[in-house]
Amino acid sequence: MNCYRYLEKRGLSNDNAIRFVRRGKRFGRIPFPRHKLSTWTFLFGATFLICFLVFSNLNKIPFHESPLILQQAHPDLWESETGRPPPPPPPPPPRSKRGRQHFPCEIGFAKSVDYLVEPSDLTNFTQFSLKYIDRDQKSSSNNVFDLRFGGHQTLEERQQSFYAKNQTLHCGFVKGPPGYASIGFEINEKDKAYMNTCKIVVSSCIFGNSDFLRRPTSKQISGYSKDNVCFVMFVDEQTLSKLSMEGNVPDDGGKIGLWRLVVIRNLPYKDMRRTGKVPKLLSHRLFPSARYSIWLDSKMRLHIDPMLILERFLWRTKSEYAISNHYDRHCVWEEVLQNKRLNKYNHTAIDEQFNFYQSDGLTKFDPSDPNKLLPSYVPEGSFIVRAHTPMSNLFSCLWFNEVDRFTSRDQLSFAYTYLKLKRMNPDKPFNFNMFKDCERRTLAKLFRHRITVLPS
Ligand SMILES: *[C@@H]1O[C@H](CO)[C@@H](O)[C@H](O)[C@H]1NC(C)=O
Ligand SMILES: *[C@@H]1O[C@H](CO)[C@@H](O)[C@H](O)[C@H]1NC(C)=O
Ligand SMILES: *[C@@H]1O[C@H](CO)[C@@H](O)[C@H](O)[C@H]1NC(C)=O
Repeated sequence: MNCYRYLEKRGLSNDNAIRFVRRGKRFGRIPFPRHKLSTWTFLFGATFLICFLVFSNLNKIPFHESPLILQQAHPDLWESETGRPPPPPPPPPPRSKRGRQHFPCEIGFAKSVDYLVEPSDLTNFTQFSLKYIDRDQKSSSNNVFDLRFGGHQTLEERQQSFYAKNQTLHCGFVKGPPGYASIGFEINEKDKAYMNTCKIVVSSCIFGNSDFLRRPTSKQISGYSKDNVCFVMFVDEQTLSKLSMEGNVPDDGGKIGLWRLVVIRNLPYKDMRRTGKVPKLLSHRLFPSARYSIWLDSKMRLHIDPMLILERFLWRTKSEYAISNHYDRHCVWEEVLQNKRLNKYNHTAIDEQFNFYQSDGLTKFDPSDPNKLLPSYVPEGSFIVRAHTPMSNLFSCLWFNEVDRFTSRDQLSFAYTYLKLKRMNPDKPFNFNMFKDCERRTLAKLFRHRITVLPS
């Protein structure tokens, strides 16, 4: 099944909310005769009979065979937003029908963190050394320097940066020439000192007050992880004051529960989503001593021990980067249409990015291709598990640079970046683990965002 046939078959709208609408429309098309009383009486009777049958049999219908009930139980749509512990998840169906219902699935985690053996070193992965451009020296014609957090990378520099070799590349945090003010994303010295000590990190962010604070499920987190893993939640000042107003005030150590709140001042982008990509994609820059990091979106509550996650998604599979695929979409063509349909971003900017990618070799996802490099070209990037190895760090920088240059929709640039990196380094292994979305749902509990961030 190629990309387009896939589109036609599924329609362009795979969101549950949209499905409700379409379902409604379908019923709406039944031609109701307006005048015949007998027909009305018949319909009324039939409806009554159906209702009676349905309700009297409801408790006999196996849960997983009733599509309507399943949609109401959809975790994304119906989770509480109060921050109170949510009710226990519905039992996963024995055989879930592909792409429709989205449930967590079984993951064989290690029994306990006590017997985990971290691989002795990370040097079995592709080795080279990366340095990062610290300062942009280029100035514009009229001597007004346009400060950019991502720097001013030329297309030629961009092209060269894809080679997995010793190099110095753009990877955010680019300062202006001496004498210029900060580029943004400022962190106070105390927090920086703490972040420099972190060896294993779980991090997330809330900018622009877009989410509630979801604390990791404490009883699922081992004593070992509580002592050895940094849990860092990046927030802006606006979010911090909103959280404080709601009674979530950090203690003297800057912590709320397991999260240590790190306040970011002087946000580098007007677009909060784009700002959010800094901690999401650049954890190796924010935590320079870290060997491993786990990113989760703030709409999720972590409820598996981070060490068990590292073991399951990296160590066991000898991977250096793990991310889940999208629950419904696998093709970038489809993702582009979906982004436009939901007005996620300026359409012209999406087209510019997409045309550029097509002219540079992006192809449609072909599920039947036995040599396909990824199980899907569309990620569900709300959960990322990384070893901070050279390939993993390079991929993260390259992906961030795309988000900086083009739209902030990172699902659009993911496959292009990955495929180009592979294409330009055929002899350099990158041990990538794209796991199933249902597994992501086991790692963390999903909630809806607090507010809808307007498209920019
Ligand atoms: C290191 O990687 C090579 C190939 O990439 C593999 O054959 C070997 O088993 C690995 N060694 C360890 C200790 O994982
Ligand atoms: C790459 O950098 C490493 C460490 O800085 C160095 O040991 C190695 O010789 C360099 N390799 C090349 C090909 O320059
Ligand atoms: C949309 O993007 C295009 C191209 O990047 C730009 O020229 C245009 O000003 C943008 N429109 C809006 C409303 O931001």
